[in-house]
Amino acid sequence: MAERDTVPVTLITGASEGLGLALAREFAHTGHALLLVARTRSTLEEAAQKINQATGVEVHIHAADLSTREGCKSVVAALDEYGLHAEYLVNNAGIGLSGPFVENGSDDLMRLADLNMRAVTDLTRRVLPGMISRSSGGVLNIASLGGYLPGPFQAAYYASKAYVISLSEALAYEVAGTNVRVSVFAPGPLKTRFHERMDAQNDIYIRFMGVMSVEQAAKSAYKNFMRGRKVIVPGLINTMSAQMLRILPHTLLVPFAAWLLRRRESAGNA
Ligand SMILES: NC(=O)c1ccc[n+]([C@@H]2O[C@H](COP(=O)([O-])OP(=O)(O)OC[C@H]3O[C@@H](n4cnc5c(N)ncnc54)[C@H](OP(=O)(O)O)[C@@H]3O)[C@@H](O)[C@H]2O)c1
Repeated sequence: MAERDTVPVTLITGASEGLGLALAREFAHTGHALLLVARTRSTLEEAAQKINQATGVEVHIHAADLSTREGCKSVVAALDEYGLHAEYLVNNAGIGLSGPFVENGSDDLMRLADLNMRAVTDLTRRVLPGMISRSSGGVLNIASLGGYLPGPFQAAYYASKAYVISLSEALAYEVAGTNVRVSVFAPGPLKTRFHERMDAQNDIYIRFMGVMSVEQAAKSAYKNFMRGRKVIVPGLINTMSAQMLRILPHTLLVPFAAWLLRRRESAGNA
């Protein structure tokens, strides 16, 4: 299908729940048609139906495991099949892993690296040239405040988010003047099942930093992305933390992060 005949959509990964679903709602409320991607078809179907009923926008879904090369490739095939092009790409799907690095499973570590870094790189590389040739659209990458410092006991996760921040800021520079935007969103802890999935829901960092609702986070991400802000950190405390993290020496920060992230039996973690 010729590019001019395709319909623009916002392609959001990890959109069946959590922040991805809240972002999908935010884009839909302002009239953007969607292509939602996650692994589980049933939750995608449910999300798509609710968003369509609430907003009337067209919502397509595609079930794929983005931690695989085939999964990323299949997203582009789905766009073609539906007759769509990605006006906006939101690289949101991401997983965490807690505990000492040497106790993390090798397969789990590789899955994290593949989803949090390789898929972001792969999908961005696949859709960005089209955006540049159309002179419109953009990429919103979801990182984390954790990307601003090394995170002992969530080492691979924090490192993966540092990659996302670095990649995004560099690409934002490269696309300057093309009318295409690249932004990175770096929230603190959010109220989702993310922490539970890595058995970290009772860890000190959650209580220390507090959690933000996904609705509040998604509003901030959407509004500032559309305004062209390159780096978006939601909330006053997180914004101040991000500034501090940029200037404090790692000799102080790394032990502090280790104190926040270390697993403790008394915190309810067996
Ligand atoms: N929660 C936080 O405190 C927090 C803080 C800062 C940054 N973040 C970042 O925000 C993003 C979203 O986090 P969240 O808390 O909303 O996560 P979440 O609630 O755990 O949701 C994860 C989403 O990603 C999908 N997903 C997981 N593995 C996938 C895979 N291999 N392929 C495709 N989709 C996959 C899940 O659906 P399926 O399981 O059906 O695939 C789900 O839709 C992540 O990048 C995370 O690192 C989160």
